[in-house]
Amino acid sequence: MAVRHLMSPLDFTVEELDHLLDLANDIELHREKYAHICDGKRIATLFYEPSTRTRLSFEAAMMNLGGSVLGFHSEDSSSAAKGESVADTIRIVSCYADIAAMRHPKEGAPLVASLKSSIPVINAGDGGHQHPTQTLTDILTIRSLKGRLGNLTVGICGDLKFGRTVHSLIASLSRYEGISFVLISPEELKVPSYVRDSLRAKNIPYSEVVKLDADTMADLDILYMTRVQRERFFNEADYVRMKDFYILDREKLELAPKDMCVLHPLPRVNEIAVDVDDDPRACYFRQAQYGVYARMALILTLLGIEVD
Ligand code: NCD
Repeated sequence: MAVRHLMSPLDFTVEELDHLLDLANDIELHREKYAHICDGKRIATLFYEPSTRTRLSFEAAMMNLGGSVLGFHSEDSSSAAKGESVADTIRIVSCYADIAAMRHPKEGAPLVASLKSSIPVINAGDGGHQHPTQTLTDILTIRSLKGRLGNLTVGICGDLKFGRTVHSLIASLSRYEGISFVLISPEELKVPSYVRDSLRAKNIPYSEVVKLDADTMADLDILYMTRVQRERFFNEADYVRMKDFYILDREKLELAPKDMCVLHPLPRVNEIAVDVDDDPRACYFRQAQYGVYARMALILTLLGIEVD
């Protein structure tokens, strides 16, 4: 059987995705049923860029399934520091593990690795490009909290230029009926033109606005906040100018619909004030928990392990 990788959120059909999300919900309800399903299996986490949630949730996911974990958490602590290519690294890792999750600062690096891999490779974030497993987490969260993935008005706020979670989320939600987007960013941090072009090509309603105010939030079902991606800026002065452009605090949230969900892939810096955390609309910590179930379902799917 051909090895299946996950590079983009569009690698799964909508039907496959439904199945994966159903599996994730079943995992949430029946953890014990899955506790030994991956006994003897290993995941390699190959992280060339910092991470807390993505790496640890992959590791927790495999451990929850009874499997184990190996890997590295920075470029410095791997042979990349000696000049080894990702293609060579994955050939070696294919001998040690059954599945691998790779994060890399260069766009396309996990794809290059997948071409040389005999085990499934998961893109755990490639530069400012894509972050498909965050999207699985996001859509599992949205479906679980709102009960649907269609007929939603989704506001996405912050660094829409460099934020890879944003690019993957827009691509994925664009496949559902009745989706519209409100893209909220400073001029300099608008979505890349390829994202805008794909929205236009599919006739998906969207608007681009600068202000996060009562008018902008009036019709939102979801407000997806993101941090300004400091590490992708060419100079620090630009980052400093942009970093506090949006701050969602309790006062501002007063202006939002009562049933709007606030999501954030995390880490948050200043864009959501901590006084928002206790508001029932603040769903970002639950979102992080859904990340474990989504990754458990993904590991089972890519390893082709069927559950009764
Ligand atoms: C995101 C990422 O790495 O792109 N983090 C994550 O995986 N949850 C978002 C971010 O770093 O801002």
